[in-house]
Amino acid sequence: MEDAFIVNGGRKLTGEITLSGAKNEALKIIIASLIFDNEITIYNVPTIGDILELIALLKSLGVDVSFIGTNTLHIKPIQIKKYVVDLLHGSKMRVSFLLFAPFLARFGKARIPNPGGCRIGARPIDRQISIMRAFGIEIDYDSKTGYYEASLTKKLQAINYKFEKPSHTGTELALMFATIATGKTTITNAAQEPEIDDFIEYLAASGVKIKKNKDVITVESTGNHHVNSAKHTVSYDRNEAVTYAIFALATQGNITIKKTSSLDLKYFLDKVTEVGGNFEVLEDAIRFYYTEPFKHSSVTTAPHPGFMTDWQAPWSILMTQAVGQSIIHETVFENRFSYVSELRKLGAKIDFFEPEMKENAIYQFNGATKSFFSSTAQAIKINGPTNLHNGFLQVSDLRAGASLLIAACVARGESIVEGASIIDRGYEEIDKKLKSLGAMIKRV
Ligand code: EPU
Repeated sequence: MEDAFIVNGGRKLTGEITLSGAKNEALKIIIASLIFDNEITIYNVPTIGDILELIALLKSLGVDVSFIGTNTLHIKPIQIKKYVVDLLHGSKMRVSFLLFAPFLARFGKARIPNPGGCRIGARPIDRQISIMRAFGIEIDYDSKTGYYEASLTKKLQAINYKFEKPSHTGTELALMFATIATGKTTITNAAQEPEIDDFIEYLAASGVKIKKNKDVITVESTGNHHVNSAKHTVSYDRNEAVTYAIFALATQGNITIKKTSSLDLKYFLDKVTEVGGNFEVLEDAIRFYYTEPFKHSSVTTAPHPGFMTDWQAPWSILMTQAVGQSIIHETVFENRFSYVSELRKLGAKIDFFEPEMKENAIYQFNGATKSFFSSTAQAIKINGPTNLHNGFLQVSDLRAGASLLIAACVARGESIVEGASIIDRGYEEIDKKLKSLGAMIKRV
């Protein structure tokens, strides 16, 4: 067998790990650097599958990009020669759509295939297209080729734009176009994820006048004449922090996660306290540790500052160990429960149900209609505690994958988690970090 982890579970994970750089910030900073001409060095870039894939994509465009030290990436954007993303790279990476900004800024035209990424919902790009059209960009989809084709007929001018529903990556695309455009752009109902704050910080350090007040972002720009900040350090990954916190708690262990102190984890930490989990905030770390059986909980995912959609799959593993019935209601993506069938193989008692609170407004995805809910359920009930046993688990998306690894570490006996490369897309050296915490894990 290839592309799998074999895990001998049932051990308390203890020790200390250091977080890696945030995937969802690094990917966007790398792409944004292409709207500027000068070279940039980016520190704390995680060597994960998604970043390596993006680097391969940029190289295919002629960009000179390489690691010049551990987690230190150097980019010379000026050599970019192409404005077409090939199907092989584009179909694997959802963020490839963000390349519309540098392509249009440099060449006035761009061709990018319908983007890929984790299959956690329909993941349309209508919000990105609508903001591009608002900027006056012509963009059409050619169903014969599967490509979006965009062109600029005149220089971009600033706009006032309101997202009907927020979009994390859509907001970052909007900010890049606002940087390229001339004048003062105002984006309302922008996404408020911390990674966007880091993105704003990067643009500001590159000379863009940019201000954020809750969900309103204003950008004053003179067009594409900025010089980027020449260096940027990626923040640590809050999703990785939450994943290892749950490795600690669910295995009844004790893990100190270094570099967590500056991260915005308030909502998660409050939930940990509510279920009886323990943590201690240290100078530049948080230690998560187990003392008593967990209480059940109810979580509804939401955009920042709520309980992140990326945390619900790992949380479900913790709740298989909690006493009573827990509820998880997913409102951000419409297909983020792929792990449920896998957890059932280990003996987890999980049922889907339709939550009563079903107003369209709370759902971030499009088409949250009555007929949609008649064919799918966006919530699960977990009855615990369960003594999970070993099994063969198949990974379908990144966060589900990391969660199945947690489950395999909790479960007694030998489990196989197939789909290691999907987990590697977002977690740097996960097997090495887990081994250092006492996990018996082998890559095959
Ligand atoms: N949506 C649309 N149309 C659009 C854009 C979004 O319908 O044009 C829908 C999405 O399908 C989703 C909802 O709106 O149901 C929210 O999507 P959003 O655009 O905010 O998310 P994203 O930018 O696609 C990023 C992260 C996700 C993270 C979410 C929420 C990256 C590369 N991805 O996705 O991270 O869960 O924001 O914070 O930044 C992950 O790391 O595993 C991951 C999925």
